[in-house]
Amino acid sequence: MKILLTSSSRHGSTDEVAAVIAERLQAAKIDVDIKRPEDVDVVDGYDAFILGSAVYMTKWTPEAVDFTERFHESLKARPVWAFSVGLSGLPKGKVSDPMRIGPVLLAIDPEDHVTFPGRFDPSKLSLRERSIARLGGASEGDYRDWDQVRQWADAIATSLYDNTLTARRGNG
Ligand SMILES: Cc1cc2nc3c(=O)[nH]c(=O)nc-3n(C[C@H](O)[C@H](O)[C@H](O)COP(=O)(O)O)c2cc1C
Repeated sequence: MKILLTSSSRHGSTDEVAAVIAERLQAAKIDVDIKRPEDVDVVDGYDAFILGSAVYMTKWTPEAVDFTERFHESLKARPVWAFSVGLSGLPKGKVSDPMRIGPVLLAIDPEDHVTFPGRFDPSKLSLRERSIARLGGASEGDYRDWDQVRQWADAIATSLYDNTLTARRGNG
């Protein structure tokens, strides 16, 4: 079983979440390629996909959105899990809801979409980014919940194995 995990990150926190997901899947003996969405030219040979993006100004990155458009047909034909990394939903980290992610994901009908809390580290940001995030009410901190990320990855591994079993049974 081989899956493609794409991660679109500006400042690394989404990439770190993706790395933990990959680790859990690899521990479950699933073959995982991690790539930036803009570096992917072909998706043949993958049995499933996990798409991750940081949320900026309520949206997935343009590279992540572009990926879902370029490979729309393949994504519709295979199981897809999606995750967003952002600060919305946190008591003091409200930038804005990732409302606009909805239409992007609806078009590919994923098995599941989850939003993981991210990180706000002003020292890594440009002045402009810092001001926008502060205006949105973000407060400094790393809110990532690694147990939550691991649990989500483990549930995907289980589901992939269940799918494979069902497919084998279906083939007689
Ligand atoms: C300029 C700016 C805009 C942001 N806009 C949003 C937003 O609309 N919704 C949200 O949930 N988080 C927002 N965030 C928080 C980021 O999604 C969060 O910091 C995330 O961890 C960044 O991921 P990355 O390190 O992979 O780039 C914003 C952060 C910045 C700096």
